[in-house]
Amino acid sequence: MIAGTRSINYLRISVTDRCNFRCRYCMPASPFAVIPHHEIARYEEILKITRLACEMGITKVRVTGGEPFVRKDILSFLEQLCRMDALSDISITTNGALLTRDKIQHLLDLGIKRLNFSLDTLDPEKFAFITGRDRFDRVWDAIMTAHDLGMTPVKINTVVLRGINDNEIAAIAALTRRFPFHIRFIEYMPMGDSHMEKQQQVLTSEIIQILETALGPLFPMPHEAGDGPAKKFEFKDAPGVVGFITPISSHFCSECNRLRLTSRGFLRPCLLNDYEKDILTPLRNGATDDRLKEIIHTALQHKPLFHTLGKNRPVDIPVSHMTSIGG
Ligand code: 5AD
Ligand code: SF4
Repeated sequence: MIAGTRSINYLRISVTDRCNFRCRYCMPASPFAVIPHHEIARYEEILKITRLACEMGITKVRVTGGEPFVRKDILSFLEQLCRMDALSDISITTNGALLTRDKIQHLLDLGIKRLNFSLDTLDPEKFAFITGRDRFDRVWDAIMTAHDLGMTPVKINTVVLRGINDNEIAAIAALTRRFPFHIRFIEYMPMGDSHMEKQQQVLTSEIIQILETALGPLFPMPHEAGDGPAKKFEFKDAPGVVGFITPISSHFCSECNRLRLTSRGFLRPCLLNDYEKDILTPLRNGATDDRLKEIIHTALQHKPLFHTLGKNRPVDIPVSHMTSIGG
């Protein structure tokens, strides 16, 4: 499917707004309500929307949350997703805390080889401070198990926060010298009503400077299809990759090839813009496949060519938090 000059082939599906973690940069600071169960798209509804989106050109899916593994029967949902012939690539973003060896093996047996873990620190105490949960060891075990069992690539997302984990940037990146991991440093996006201050954002240029001072030169790697917005580098002779995701310092909207389906069954063409189009209600009201495809098409026409986050825009836009959008 086409939006402007872009061809959209990537769908991110948030299967739940719920999460077993409380990451400070992700969760709203004030009390918030979870979405009532009946408003959450059922698996068969998600599968139906995905099937239609595939008929329109989607070939890749990423499953996100909240935390996907807190949703009941997620493995049978993934199994059905894996049966869709039109999908050539299925990956999952997870905090890893619930990923036992058995589950990771199950994912591999289904044909899912790519996992993105969220990990912002190598210090268990700091981990508990950032996520609100004392689960560092479990997450680290899950990452190592995924690696041992043959997940590839194992990706690690690290949101860099000044005064919190900026002193660990080099230590985290140095993992790429020992393991074939893809470590991706992400610029903190202010989402409004947050525990974090905008001043805690660390931009990629500064991260690169810190890395090169501590660990030597980073060599740029060619951009491959599937890299999405990440810019990739490597240290000399390192098996892993260091990536940067730069939503603030460098606009990548014009290259963005993704569409999001939120846990409430709304299509969201852009993470950083609050426009959403309800597809679940029409589906529940018996809309035809053609009508549902029209809705997908309409949502795509709202894919912006640029965003305004980090410019002179109040930080309370967008109002939705990652946990309900799915990152
Ligand atoms: N800024 C940047 N990245 C965020 N994530 C969540 N909230 C934010 C934010 N405010 C990302 C984290 C996590 C993924 C699920 O979403 O990288 O790995
Ligand atoms: Fe943390 Fe991811 Fe859960 Fe947000 S969704 S609280 S980033 S683990």
